[in-house]
Amino acid sequence: MKVVVVGSINLDLVVQADRFPKIGETMFGTDSKMLPGGKGANQAVAAARLGADVTMIGCVGEDAYGEIVLKNFQENMLDTSCIKKVAEPTGVAYITIAENDNSIILVQGANACVDRSLIDKYQAQILAADIVITQCEIPIETIRYLIDFCAENDVHLILNPAPTPEIAPEYLAKVTFLTPNEIEINQLFQQDAQTVLREHPNQIIMTYGAKGVRYHDREKLMEVPSYKVPVIDTTGAGDTFNAAFAVAYAKDQELEKAITFANLAASKTVQGLGAQSAMPRIEELV
Ligand code: RIB
Repeated sequence: MKVVVVGSINLDLVVQADRFPKIGETMFGTDSKMLPGGKGANQAVAAARLGADVTMIGCVGEDAYGEIVLKNFQENMLDTSCIKKVAEPTGVAYITIAENDNSIILVQGANACVDRSLIDKYQAQILAADIVITQCEIPIETIRYLIDFCAENDVHLILNPAPTPEIAPEYLAKVTFLTPNEIEINQLFQQDAQTVLREHPNQIIMTYGAKGVRYHDREKLMEVPSYKVPVIDTTGAGDTFNAAFAVAYAKDQELEKAITFANLAASKTVQGLGAQSAMPRIEELV
């Protein structure tokens, strides 16, 4: 099965601490790591580990961080031929993990260079995909262009609206699936989540953290429970969810089954530190 991911590629600089610092405070952390990340890259790696044939479309800088993330893609058997090297530095995410949660500051860097020319150049790859996934750490004009291209060519597209984009509802209506969390759904639609789900049956799949996933099946609100596991780091859990959902849906087009599989995959990710380090391989989920 072919999955194309159009999106961000970052290097994550992760620090762990017992608590978040106060504004203006200097405090000791307990550990720090440099890990491959970026919502696009995470989703691409997760899909590859679940057995998909994955092509990543994105940009990295011509720098040491760019080399690290490209090497990581190769180790995870991704097709890197659609990744452009640009003069901007590779995207960097500064991540603090504390108090069972995280905070992230993202410096977009090379991700800002993912423009419509890349969509034009790699049309053939997108057209050949069973499913395309994108997120919102690349320019919104590119996302709109991709949405139009996929809609015009009947290509299944998942839009993970994170971070929340400024995008008109008519664009959102064109995607196959939209996968917001509760905050993103409220920001995008300025309505309560239940109403939005009812008005977009079988299209909006809302992730609800430990409470699971909700969508409307045209008749009733569906709730697919999450798996209860000990949580070490939630970074990348949403990315694993999106990738696993894409892979499972592309395989047999069964929504509830695909969500259950995605919840299981995400539950593995939260049990380890870092976005990609704890992403499961298909053998762990069957
Ligand atoms: O979704 C997690 C990702 O968000 C991290 O890997 C970080 O790079 C940020 O983009």
